[in-house]
Amino acid sequence: MLAASVNADAPIGVFDSGVGGLSVLRHIQAQLPHEHLLYFADSGFAPYGNKPESVVAERSLAVAQFLVAQGAKALVVACNTATVAAIKLLRTHYPLMPIVGVEPGLKPAAAATRNGKVGVIATNVTIAGEKFLVLRDQITAASQAQFLLQGCPGLVEQIERGQLDDPATRAMLERFIAPLLQQGADTLVLGCTHYPFVQAAIETIIAEHAQGEVKLIDTGHAVARQLARLLTAAGALNPSNDVPPYLHAYTSGAQAALSDAFLTLLNLQQAVLEVRLGAEKNLAAAI
Ligand code: DGL
Repeated sequence: MLAASVNADAPIGVFDSGVGGLSVLRHIQAQLPHEHLLYFADSGFAPYGNKPESVVAERSLAVAQFLVAQGAKALVVACNTATVAAIKLLRTHYPLMPIVGVEPGLKPAAAATRNGKVGVIATNVTIAGEKFLVLRDQITAASQAQFLLQGCPGLVEQIERGQLDDPATRAMLERFIAPLLQQGADTLVLGCTHYPFVQAAIETIIAEHAQGEVKLIDTGHAVARQLARLLTAAGALNPSNDVPPYLHAYTSGAQAALSDAFLTLLNLQQAVLEVRLGAEKNLAAAI
């Protein structure tokens, strides 16, 4: 249950290392159209996927504290990497708050595969994380599905730069995905919230390298559904249909980059505020 002081009119805080969480935000907007939203893109500190788990955990807590200070009644960790690294810490810090994380869709993939071979693309932190590996082992034991894991260093940076259809991005995707298809994967899990934004390029590579149909698995819709469930159970759904919902966007990077991303990726004109949580450059340089 929520603390008595929590206001159901309050916004939901959503964050990612950058623009990837917008692929989750669009599902939240569609499924919970009356909710006020805060979106924090930690682009000044991205990518998370090449940093030690402890650094990502500490940083995720700082972002969550910022969102809670803006009045967030719930948190969505719209980032697989931050979920692996920090969800436990966030739940310890905010035991009364609904907190939803994102996990690669291994379970739906095991249900979807026809030949038992599932490719998973994600950041290196995600596929090395204990939380992820335990889930992988449980689902392998229950389903006999074989998961072929592929880290994708550099891909988040390409998407952060808006280079969705750039030759370098395509070359990178081909290098990561073609071997999975050659090993027979008939299902591909998009295990990073940035990747749905290069789905068109991924589909081209599938058309060129796969023998048959390959199903893509993205969990944005399921995350929004879980958020709706938790808010309902906590009695924290926004009761008002009269007040138009607001969306406040913050970035630790450049304001223009996030407003461009809103326009390109979600077709939204969105004002953005730059926020410094402290030591962006020092922290990034230390790693
Ligand atoms: N969108 C993040 C994820 O889902 C990207 C992490 C990163 O910054 O490397 O994992």
